[in-house]
Amino acid sequence: MNKQYKHILVLTGAGVSAESGLATFRDAEGLWNNHKVEDVATIDAFERNPEYVHAFYNEMKPELSAAKPNSAHLALAKLEKEYTGEVNIVTQNVDTLHEKAGSRKVYHIHGQINQAVCLNCGQILETWDAVDTQTVCPHCHIAGMMKPNIVFFGESLLYMNEVERLLKACDLFISVGTSGVVYPAAGFVQAAKYHGAETWEFNLEAGANNYLFDKHIYGKCGTTLPAFVDELLKSAEEKEKNND
Ligand code: OAD
Repeated sequence: MNKQYKHILVLTGAGVSAESGLATFRDAEGLWNNHKVEDVATIDAFERNPEYVHAFYNEMKPELSAAKPNSAHLALAKLEKEYTGEVNIVTQNVDTLHEKAGSRKVYHIHGQINQAVCLNCGQILETWDAVDTQTVCPHCHIAGMMKPNIVFFGESLLYMNEVERLLKACDLFISVGTSGVVYPAAGFVQAAKYHGAETWEFNLEAGANNYLFDKHIYGKCGTTLPAFVDELLKSAEEKEKNND
């Protein structure tokens, strides 16, 4: 690999955290198998039964708080730190494993498990503690208006202005561990391609939108991603040496 990239955009999904022991959404053991999406991940469900929805996300917190980044997260953090070009991560995951690995430019388009948003004042409360219908907003001091800062079906994604800018600017778009069925994130590859980026897919198997990728690297991303990152860094180093 001898091409040098100026702007790398990485889209991650549940598969990047699978080797940290976290369940993905659509595999046999996936989250939606135990809970109906319409009971825990829609804005209607939250309006109908906020106690139930809060309890669902509160229950996930200890596991996500204790989870450790795996070699795929660490490889992406190393890429951001050591690569000559810019590296940004747009993640669909609500865990914080990219940050724990050391990545700094991370956009959680589906929200974060350790945040709640006040529906009265719009401010964010960051906490690993349980949040419920009694929680008082630390900013506006109103009780009972906190919602998990998770993007439910029926809500807009977060950071979309920034994501649009990144999709236009990137010359390499990498998708890691996402099934490519949930839009709008599943459509980012098409936008990146339209703006001229090379597109690579890292997954166990072909995702639903795999025909939009130029290259496919199938296997566990805990193995494939570190190898890819090392190769990118090596070729950047060689290029620099040759320019000396
Ligand atoms: P999915 O569960 O739909 O897909 C996970 C993907 O990761 C699958 O394509 C697996 O093949 C792949 N995978 C699993 N283990 C892997 C490994 N070790 N290495 C590489 N790939 C692996 O999860 P997402 O695509 O992230 O939304 O799901 C998208 C959204 O659906 C989620 O963000 C969630 C859900 O609705 C919200 O919570 C708003």
